[in-house]
Amino acid sequence: MKVLMVCLGNICRSPLAEGILKEKVKAKNLDWTVDSAGTGSWHVGDAPDPRSIAVAATHGLDITSQRGRQLKPADLENYDLIFAMDSMNFQHILLLATTDVQREKVQLIMNMEKPDHNQNVPDPYYGDDGFEGVYQMLDRACTAIIEKYAH
Ligand code: 4NP
Repeated sequence: MKVLMVCLGNICRSPLAEGILKEKVKAKNLDWTVDSAGTGSWHVGDAPDPRSIAVAATHGLDITSQRGRQLKPADLENYDLIFAMDSMNFQHILLLATTDVQREKVQLIMNMEKPDHNQNVPDPYYGDDGFEGVYQMLDRACTAIIEKYAH
């Protein structure tokens, strides 16, 4: 399974999602690839936001070696599951899809926990207090991803 986590900047939410899912994949000894990307290009090459690094560290995760990259059309072909953090990301990912097979790979990540609720992971970039809540949401979603797709 090849899983791609996508947000806007690839410095706050999707790096946390990548780190959390990688830890669960490792704990289950699964042969999965997990990566993340942003729909925007502002933070290409950047390390995750210090606030994401800090909240990950409080949960025992080291995400400092991740670097931002922008989503590209080949990602739609190369990954099996593509998780959008919010509905804007979802729409932007679909703009790059060229086939129904590619479109069907794209899901809102919180629908893994609560199917059809279409809940967004809030963008914590412009406030300081959202990071722990984002972590908890992504931890629940990643648990659900493992339960559904690990077999
Ligand atoms: P993210 O948060 O999409 O969770 O990485 C953001 C990070 C940076 C920006 C927007 C959202 N920005 O506009 O630079």
